[in-house]
Order: sequence, then C-alpha cells, then structure tokens
Amino acid sequence: MLKSFWQVPKIVVFSLCKSTENIMSNNLLAGKRGIIFGALDENSIAWKVALEAKSQGAVFTLTNAPVAMRFGEIKKLGEICNAEIIPADATSMPDLENLFTKSMEILGGKVDFILHSIGMSINVRKGLPYTDLNYDYFLKAMDISALSFHRVIQTARKLDAINDWGSIVALTYIAAQRAFPGYSDMADNKAALESIARSFGYYLGREKKIRVNTISQSPTATTAGAGIKGFDKFSSYAAKVSPLGNATAEDCARYTVMMFSDMTKMVTMQNLFHDGGFSNTGVSEDILDLV
Ligand code: NAI
Repeated sequence: MLKSFWQVPKIVVFSLCKSTENIMSNNLLAGKRGIIFGALDENSIAWKVALEAKSQGAVFTLTNAPVAMRFGEIKKLGEICNAEIIPADATSMPDLENLFTKSMEILGGKVDFILHSIGMSINVRKGLPYTDLNYDYFLKAMDISALSFHRVIQTARKLDAINDWGSIVALTYIAAQRAFPGYSDMADNKAALESIARSFGYYLGREKKIRVNTISQSPTATTAGAGIKGFDKFSSYAAKVSPLGNATAEDCARYTVMMFSDMTKMVTMQNLFHDGGFSNTGVSEDILDLV
C-alpha cells in the first residue's frame, strides 16, 4: 500500500523535489532563437519569460520602447540573460525593421519565437470612464496594444525573419470576452489583438507552418496590471473564483515557453486561457462565503 506523503522518508521527498526541478529545466528551447518585447522591470511578465526561455536553452534579443530604456531595468535583464537589447517603439515600422534585421545578425539567423507583451492605455492611466473616452488616447492605445502586433508580424513576414514552425505569442486578458469595468478601452484593444492572432495565424500557418496564439493571463501585479482601477480587488476576486487560484507571472512564463517549444506544434489561432480555471467558472463557494 502507498504511504501517505508525510510518511515518505525525507531523503525520498528531497530526491523527488530535485527530479521535479530537473523536469522544469530540460532544454525545451535548445537551439531556438527569439525576440522578447515588453520587459520593463522584474515584475513584467516578459521579464519572467526571458528568464524561463534562457533556462530552457534559448538565445534571444530583448526590446522595449526607447522611453522604457530610461525608466525600466531592462539592461539588468540583458546582463542576466546575456541578451542584446535593441530599442524599438512597437508602433514604428522603421524601428521594427531595424529590430528584426539586427536580431537576425546578432542571433545568427531567423528567429523561432516572438513574445508580444505590450499594453498601454492613456484612458486607463487617467482613469477616464468607458462612457467618456478620449478618442486620441483610444487610437494611441489601440496602436500600441493591438495594431503593434500586426506591425510586428507583418514586418517579420516581409523580412522573412521567422523559421518554419516558428511560434508567436501575445498576452491578453479576458476583458476581451466579458465586461470588466475599469479595464476601459483596453478591453477593445485586447479583442482586436486576439482577432489579429487568428487572422494572421491563418496566413502564416498556410505559408510557413508558423503558429500565432494569444495567452489570456490571470490578473498579475505588474506596472500595467496595477494601473487598472481597483486592481487589487479584482485580482483577489479572480483568485477566489478560480479553482486553482490566479496564475502567477512565473506560471505564465512556463506556459509561454511551452508554446514556443516543439511540444505545441499544432496549436495555432487560439486564445488560450491561463487563469486557474477562472474563464469556465460561474461562481465559487469562496465567493458565496460557503466555506
Ligand atoms: P508591464 O507594464 O511590465 O509591460 C508592458 C510593457 O509594454 C512595458 O514593458 C512597456 O514599456 C511596453 N510598451 C508600452 N508601450 C510600448 C511601445 N510603444 N512600444 C514597445 N513597448 C511598449 O506589464 P505586464 O503586465 O507585464 O504586461 C504585459 C502584457 O500582459 C500586456 O499586454 C498586458 O496587457 C498583458 N496582461 C497583463 C495582465 C496583468 O494583470 N498584469 C493580465 C493579462 C494580460
């Protein structure tokens, strides 16, 4: 008969833990090259993806908007990951062309994966309600948070910068499907982002077997996340609804890396919920105070 966990000798538990660690770092991305957008500071989801990709054997360049170079800590990440940093405003076609051209030179060939981890809304930052938006801010947010994804993929395609069977991932939020007051115009931006993944996924799949997906992540305490009005409250609400609780940035990094790996070769044009079960839960006993 199996012993309960607590009866297993400590030495066995220790070696089980060690073997789990080994499973977590098994060179899933060995031989792969990539570009990671959006690491601002160590809370950023892109920061965690970079660390995970590095530990899984990938080489990559890092990029962010020129202004983020001054305020963020991306240089520190570059040193940790031994990765070159190429500034690029994701709404600028010349910046993106330069980014892909330089990345291919530095990495010694086409890339296998791209992470788009970019979001910004001035309407959200200024706390403007959805019913009274500023349209200049809206257009800017749409360009940065959604159209930039199209710009990135279109530029890469024109430069033939992605290998066959490559993988492109963008991060999104469930406000694209459901109403979340406070998420403001970002909800519409995320809906457009997910649509771009589907549409481009079709063309790139047929042409070169390249896959394009979005990962819909739990609320995560980052600069962008904490900018949403009432973030702490809706984050703890989501944790109470989700049977597994909220997925952390580190969990998201592991999932993203799996999407870059050859383990997920046939997954494309999907919006993948990475949210501890939130998206399929109606109500929980925690929310109803039944526990
Ligand atoms: P973050 O603030 O660390 O990252 C956002 C990044 O976008 C920053 O690095 C910023 O410099 C970059 N960016 C802004 N304007 C840019 C431009 N013009 N060109 C290039 N880069 C630009 O926050 P976080 O949370 O890591 O955000 C990453 C992605 O994850 C975003 O798409 C966000 O919407 C998404 N997401 C975040 C969630 C959260 O609760 N934090 C939940 C679900 C999705």
